[in-house]
Amino acid sequence: MQVTQAKGYKGMGMNGVIAKWYASNTRHFMDDFTALAKRVAGISPGPDVLEVAPGPGYFAIELAKLGGFSVAALDISKTFVEIATKNAIEAGVEVNFQHGDVAAMPFPSHSFDFILCRAAFKNFAAPVRALQEMERVLRVGGKALIIDLRRDAPLTAINQVVDRMGGNSVNRALNQLTFRFVLLKRAYTRADFEGFLSETRFREVEITAAEIGFEITLTK
Ligand SMILES: C[S@@+](CC[C@H](N)C(=O)[O-])C[C@H]1O[C@@H](n2cnc3c(N)ncnc32)[C@H](O)[C@@H]1O
Repeated sequence: MQVTQAKGYKGMGMNGVIAKWYASNTRHFMDDFTALAKRVAGISPGPDVLEVAPGPGYFAIELAKLGGFSVAALDISKTFVEIATKNAIEAGVEVNFQHGDVAAMPFPSHSFDFILCRAAFKNFAAPVRALQEMERVLRVGGKALIIDLRRDAPLTAINQVVDRMGGNSVNRALNQLTFRFVLLKRAYTRADFEGFLSETRFREVEITAAEIGFEITLTK
């Protein structure tokens, strides 16, 4: 079932203080963004990379730091576009951060070799449209990697992740509640993804379940 909302995202959206809080919270996981950037650098079939929903832009900036890539990124939150642009300037790299909705991307067809979408897909109001847009802007042979929480993630595994996130007991309790009552409710199952993807023209689909999430690799 596809939920379509004019605002482009489910729930409250991430603007203002919420975006600032997320940016400072996720900065602690820079090693993960650096490792992901290195991994993407090794598998992207070409130099033109788009990050969909980059938030503070940490992955896109880490990829740009490696050199040899032209990196663009699109986010629906104006606060995040400002934060990410500032972060890129501070890091001394060029990333084309733009404001917009994944369901109607401001890019011509066949523009990119690789798309990354991390910790964001479950928030999109129009998931099928988002996948169709990713397919449209990729070049033939291009790949998309979607990394997100899975709806059937075991609570024990979620609690372990929350423990690794650290913070004081109030923070931990908040993180646990957010996972259980917000994020898991938005997240999709493998069957949901298979249904969405049946409405797209991707040539190859690979879905791998991880600790609490999925990795979905799509080839045009
Ligand atoms: C939890 S944050 C993830 C940020 C980043 N990808 C990361 O890994 O930390 C979710 C992001 O999705 C963005 N978003 C939600 N709906 C969107 C849409 N329809 N189009 C573009 N971005 C969207 C939000 O503004 C936010 O930046």
